[in-house]
Amino acid sequence: MSKKLKLGLFGLGSVGQGFYELLDQSKSPNLEIKKIVIKNPTKTRTIESSIFSTTPTDILDDLEIDIVVELIDDAAVALEILKQSLQRRKPVVTANKKMLAENLEEIFWLQKKYNTPVLYEGAVCGSIPIIRNLEMHYAYDALESFEGIFNGSTNYILTKMIDEKMSYEGALGQAQKLGFAESDPTLDVKGYDARYKLAISIAHAFGCFVKPSNILGIGIDKLSAYDIRFAKQQGCTIKLIAKAQKIGNKVFGIVAPTLIPLENPLANIKNEFNGLTLIGASTGLQMLTGKGAGSLPTGLVVLSDVASLASGFKYPYPKTTDDNSVAFEKDALINVYISSITSGVIRITDFEEFTGGYQGQGAHFMKGWISIKKLLEWIDRKDLSVLLTGDSYFRVYEPKKAHEFSLA
Ligand SMILES: NC(=O)c1ccc[n+]([C@@H]2O[C@H](COP(=O)([O-])OP(=O)(O)OC[C@H]3O[C@@H](n4cnc5c(N)ncnc54)[C@H](OP(=O)(O)O)[C@@H]3O)[C@@H](O)[C@H]2O)c1
Repeated sequence: MSKKLKLGLFGLGSVGQGFYELLDQSKSPNLEIKKIVIKNPTKTRTIESSIFSTTPTDILDDLEIDIVVELIDDAAVALEILKQSLQRRKPVVTANKKMLAENLEEIFWLQKKYNTPVLYEGAVCGSIPIIRNLEMHYAYDALESFEGIFNGSTNYILTKMIDEKMSYEGALGQAQKLGFAESDPTLDVKGYDARYKLAISIAHAFGCFVKPSNILGIGIDKLSAYDIRFAKQQGCTIKLIAKAQKIGNKVFGIVAPTLIPLENPLANIKNEFNGLTLIGASTGLQMLTGKGAGSLPTGLVVLSDVASLASGFKYPYPKTTDDNSVAFEKDALINVYISSITSGVIRITDFEEFTGGYQGQGAHFMKGWISIKKLLEWIDRKDLSVLLTGDSYFRVYEPKKAHEFSLA
């Protein structure tokens, strides 16, 4: 790094503040924040005021600013900032998972069009280097699958419910008090946040783009005491798992509460921590774990992305092909356990392969292989809860054929 690089920072919230502090402490002779654009000019700040602006062009049109660091909480505005930065050939670092997940294919092409990179390690599981590993370490490995705990708030809530027998409401309240969950926790508990991270990871793991809305996301908000008791009886815990698998040229993915056997390494990822296991053709099973969010953990990966840009790094997207030969497939068969407090809601015929069911402890249980499409029909039902069985992956869905017969 020869020349001192000047940075324009959008947003000084939790992540922006962490990034600012870490850069300040590093006393880097090579990186300097020239301008910070925020939304609310009257907010009390600890940093000297002349650096602030509420006008985006103060960064975008400043020819001295080399890199844009986008850390705001508004996905639509963030996308506009990203586009305008690339048009001006300014590389971008962002942690905005919603914006990235919903627009990743377009962002991939914009980087090519303007020959200007975007790095976004902070968008997937905070401090854990997932995207960089998928891009570099696994670039030449035929990755088969990965699964992980991609959301710290829900992992914290599940840990408290299962290990400390807290109620869902009590655990959620505690997560909110500690700042792990938002005051509106819908994004976390209904699995949206994990879906954003899964969509981004799928692009880097398998080279295909998928909109998060095409991934089935089942949250943790319908889990019952029966489910937790059932999990314990099976020698399992429950985690909100985001998982994906490649079969031939098809990629499958889902976010759902999952029965995880206690001997699975993901069972020991507790509280707000995140973790991921990957199965590669050459590597077998490998694991990454760490803090999935927070001011300093995420601020650090943002700083690391800035330093990487400064030394000329960009994502090579080694698995992405121009002909979209690998594609995401919405439907698949998955192995589930479904419980309901009402009888007659789930029928054996709902399953492609029914493997068992019983009534007990005040609930009805059914197990077997079912299509994602079928599960989608039940997504808004409050009296049903779905758990994936943790020891299985996806099967390609070939709908039951009508009984074939010949008159000849
Ligand atoms: N928090 C985490 O642990 C974490 C982890 C990974 C990724 N992320 C992602 O990082 C991003 C930032 O998250 P955060 O938790 O730091 O958010 P936050 O604490 O809510 O802060 C948001 C910041 O964005 C600024 N802002 C909002 N709209 C703006 C606009 N139109 N123009 C300029 N500034 C604007 C706000 O300005 P004011 O200060 O004036 O209000 C504030 O400084 C989000 O995309 C989030 O998903 C967060």
